[in-house]
Amino acid sequence: MPLNKDVTIKYLGHATFLFTTPAGNRVLIDPWVDNNPACPEEAKALEGLDTMLITHAHPDHMQDAVALAQRFQPQVACNYEISIWLGRKGVENVTGMNKGGSVELNDVKVTMTNAYHSSGILDDDGSVIYGGEAAGFVVEFENGFRIYHAGDTCVFGDMKLIAELYGPDLLLLPIGDLFTMDPREAAHACRLMNAKRVIPMHYGTFPVLTGTPDQLKELTSDLGTEVIALQPGEAIT
Ligand code: NI
Ligand code: MN
Repeated sequence: MPLNKDVTIKYLGHATFLFTTPAGNRVLIDPWVDNNPACPEEAKALEGLDTMLITHAHPDHMQDAVALAQRFQPQVACNYEISIWLGRKGVENVTGMNKGGSVELNDVKVTMTNAYHSSGILDDDGSVIYGGEAAGFVVEFENGFRIYHAGDTCVFGDMKLIAELYGPDLLLLPIGDLFTMDPREAAHACRLMNAKRVIPMHYGTFPVLTGTPDQLKELTSDLGTEVIALQPGEAIT
């Protein structure tokens, strides 16, 4: 069953997704591409980038942010602290924002949502500096289609609020365990959010990320949630 005929969703592995909007713009969430061991070589060759969203500062979410921004000059949205750091690295067109705020970037409306996680920036000298708080995003496309990318987080009760306020059509939820939700917590997130469809992410990249899509399927079987397990490099419309 097609998700939305005018929006393409490509999984680049781990927590990184590339959306193509109805107008043909490219939106990247969590710029970990060239250094992402889960991303197939052929999927690393981006042809362009219009909008870049960063959920938090950990390297497995933004290690390639500066390089990709310099190469493609996208509009960037991230938390305020990361925006300052990116600016000091020479990245332009960065919108610093915070939770509850929305901004229009090219042809998508982006809302920053809560997440429970950390967001220290690994600086070039190996030190960790304050990177604000981790977040998620709701991305609304011109045709009304809405995707919720939870970022790295545990399950939390206010996911219900996100569902009430923004009614996402598709959820992207971490299931890997150790640093984020495991399948049991992710299944409960689906329950809280009355999820129609979910794409699991943040699993399998490293051996410690042990959660699997099959576990999520089993744990959501009573909910009627469709679990769509994408291979890195795979795209759906
Ligand atoms: Ni993280
Ligand atoms: Mn992570």
